[in-house]
Amino acid sequence: MLYGVFSDVHGNLEALKAVLEFFASKKVDGYLCCGDLVGYGPQPEECVRAVSALPGLRCVVGNHDLAAIGRLPLKWFNSYATATIEYSRSKLSGQSCKFLESLPDKIEADGFTLVHGSPKNPVEEYLLSGDQFQESLPHLHTPLCLIGHSHMAFYISKRGVRFPETVPFQDGEEKVKFEDGLIYAVNAGSVGQPRDRDPRAACGLYDSKTRSFELFRLDYRRSLTQELMRRANLPEILVERIGIGW
Ligand SMILES: [Fe+2]
Repeated sequence: MLYGVFSDVHGNLEALKAVLEFFASKKVDGYLCCGDLVGYGPQPEECVRAVSALPGLRCVVGNHDLAAIGRLPLKWFNSYATATIEYSRSKLSGQSCKFLESLPDKIEADGFTLVHGSPKNPVEEYLLSGDQFQESLPHLHTPLCLIGHSHMAFYISKRGVRFPETVPFQDGEEKVKFEDGLIYAVNAGSVGQPRDRDPRAACGLYDSKTRSFELFRLDYRRSLTQELMRRANLPEILVERIGIGW
């Protein structure tokens, strides 16, 4: 199976369209999404509709999704994020809210686990270090865990008794071949709001047959997303970060 892997769309339909067109060109068999479809961006309803219609979709819930449907208190978010969650709430249809409500916080299937945060704390933990990965291992029952949340593209591998290693995906397209007997966490970065100084949309392809993962960065019409954010009166600091990938 060839899976299109993506996360943290955050209401950025222009970025999502670029990623879905790319997945279609690669003829993926299914889609794996690590959550946060809404929040931050100008088109949350359109993004939920587009993702929920994907055939063979497996998707977990993110913290922004939960907040948008009133299942996570807004006190956990800064004032900019709060403003965009309230905006998302005002735009989401009943059908889209139901879709977000239906999302589990963890999925285990076909040799992989899907979470937004970490196996230990599926929605809220930012898994960024080898130590955190080590702490999560008792909660992980597959050799691969796909994560999101930090908007950073990287992978961590657990090699025998040595400490886990964190490796960023730096220069666009890179491939990881998963070795037998090792355990991996992979973050495909963020579609709609990358934070690793590369403003292009991030996504990945996971091939369960060859046991490999490839990361891709895609250009999209960032200026249109920014224009829509300004029209929606979303915080200017969030508009600017779309342009610089932070
Ligand atoms: Fe996010």
